[in-house]
Amino acid sequence: MTTLVSQLRTGSPAFARNLAAYAELRRDVNDVRGLAIAGGGAKSLATHASRGKLTARERIHRLLDPGTPFMEIGQLAGHALYADAVPSGAIVTGIGRVRGRLCMVMANDATVKGGTYFPITIKKQVRAQAIARENALPCIYLVDSGGAFLPMQEDIFPDEHHFGRIFRNIAEMSSMKLPQIAAVMGSCTAGGAYIPAMCDETVIVKGTGTIFLGGPQLVQAATGEQIDAESLGGADLHTRLSGVADHFANDDLQALAMVRNIIARSRVTSPLAPPSAPRDPHYDPSELAGVVNANPKEPIVAAEILARLLDASYFVPYRERFGPTLLCGTGEIGGFPVGVLINDGVLYSESAQKAANFIELCSQTGVPLVFLHNIAGFMVGREYEAGGIAKNGAKMVNAVSNARVPKFSLMIGGSYGAGNFAMCGRAFGPRLMGMWPNARTSVMGGEQAATVLATVRQDQLRKAGGATAGMSAEEVETFKDPIRKHYADHSGAVYIASRLWVDSVVDPSDTRGWLSLGLAMSAASPKEETRFGVFRM
Ligand code: COA
Repeated sequence: MTTLVSQLRTGSPAFARNLAAYAELRRDVNDVRGLAIAGGGAKSLATHASRGKLTARERIHRLLDPGTPFMEIGQLAGHALYADAVPSGAIVTGIGRVRGRLCMVMANDATVKGGTYFPITIKKQVRAQAIARENALPCIYLVDSGGAFLPMQEDIFPDEHHFGRIFRNIAEMSSMKLPQIAAVMGSCTAGGAYIPAMCDETVIVKGTGTIFLGGPQLVQAATGEQIDAESLGGADLHTRLSGVADHFANDDLQALAMVRNIIARSRVTSPLAPPSAPRDPHYDPSELAGVVNANPKEPIVAAEILARLLDASYFVPYRERFGPTLLCGTGEIGGFPVGVLINDGVLYSESAQKAANFIELCSQTGVPLVFLHNIAGFMVGREYEAGGIAKNGAKMVNAVSNARVPKFSLMIGGSYGAGNFAMCGRAFGPRLMGMWPNARTSVMGGEQAATVLATVRQDQLRKAGGATAGMSAEEVETFKDPIRKHYADHSGAVYIASRLWVDSVVDPSDTRGWLSLGLAMSAASPKEETRFGVFRM
């Protein structure tokens, strides 16, 4: 084993500059977090409380084992996406511990447009269910929702991954013996009624919980029957007459206690304890923000990151002297073994081949993979094309795609183009995908995209007007500026997270906790055998 030794001078002006620059990035993200956590604003919060209801986050807090963490999935989802503000996508989702078991919790936020489902709400709930399925987590649905956000019905109803997928997921996960538990703590209308109706066991709260396919307004319009919500689908009706719900709770707190007991009675296994005792790194993870250079064009030194992420700063490098622009090796995080891949420069054929081999080895031994992206892309140029960089990069992408060990993916710097794919971008099924506040991701960097498009434009103009035609140097800059701005505005952490292209924006100093919980969650999931396809040699 090798104990990594940091060369970082934490007393230097450069370190102080980096920390100061990071504080600003954090502030930007935290401002948006604040909006997400605030929910639907003072007026709707007051109305909500006046009905004797806890907020979505209060409910989750009371549901989880006291003092245990809650890992939110998609906290920033929905930010600045629609004309209406939809903080946290109108649903709070995440992983937490209930009576010792890790569970996926999904709680509608009724203070945001009545808890109705926008497209991002559906996407977020379907993503939460996918994480639950892959990691064999019980699902708890704290329902308080007006169902479809009707003005956007075509974006939430008809397609493959739209509303219906939530119900299909409930049925399929139930068949996989993953408990599906609902607590109806507010409205639960139309399609939404299928959440409690399809769950294995359902609790409903007196006075506030209602379940119906058509609400009072619709019933009156359709049949002329005049009826209030409680008589149409309240707790008494559903626990005494219809059997749509199983347990009658007097209030939110009692309902949450009942859910906790249901989970305790279920046969799900508890998360496995780590095989080794967790050890702190030798260097303080709070220094990670100072490792990230204030100038994003400057490199991030991979060993400095690992020294602050791995237990006891121990790292066993794999082929250290071969393809050194990608560090591969094993260590532990929170007592769980991991195979780490972290960029330390551009990807070459050698680094990609090494990575493919390393992924094969980890798959053989069942070691989870952690990808830390800081990658501009693969090396370009005739020499590299002739050396087969496309096929060697493809080997890495192939290995990443088929590796059936749990994969975790975190962008710690740039993550561009095929480099993102090779480092297990979103499309490659990481169990969790996150990015640091400084990270950026797009198909290529803004400067490169502006240059490519300016060159294409120049070529067109010269073809049409002769060799002397085309843009002047000044015109080229004017042409490039909006492209640079577009890329800058559409590649940062808030933009990416608001669309749920990552699960979380993770602060560098929280990274060990984020990965440890992810590793604990994946440790209890069924093991799958890896089968690789054809590698082009
Ligand atoms: N689609 C779009 N917007 C909806 C909505 C829906 N299905 N249901 C509620 N809203 C909006 C309201 O217009 C209101 O918007 P505003 O804050 O801009 O005025 C906001 O959500 C809150 O609704 P409100 O009725 O004031 O809150 P409430 O807490 O008293 O009641 C509901 C919430 C969900 C119980 C109630 O609005 C309702 O019954 N909605 C209809 C539900 C329905 O029939 N859905 C069918 C889906 S297929």
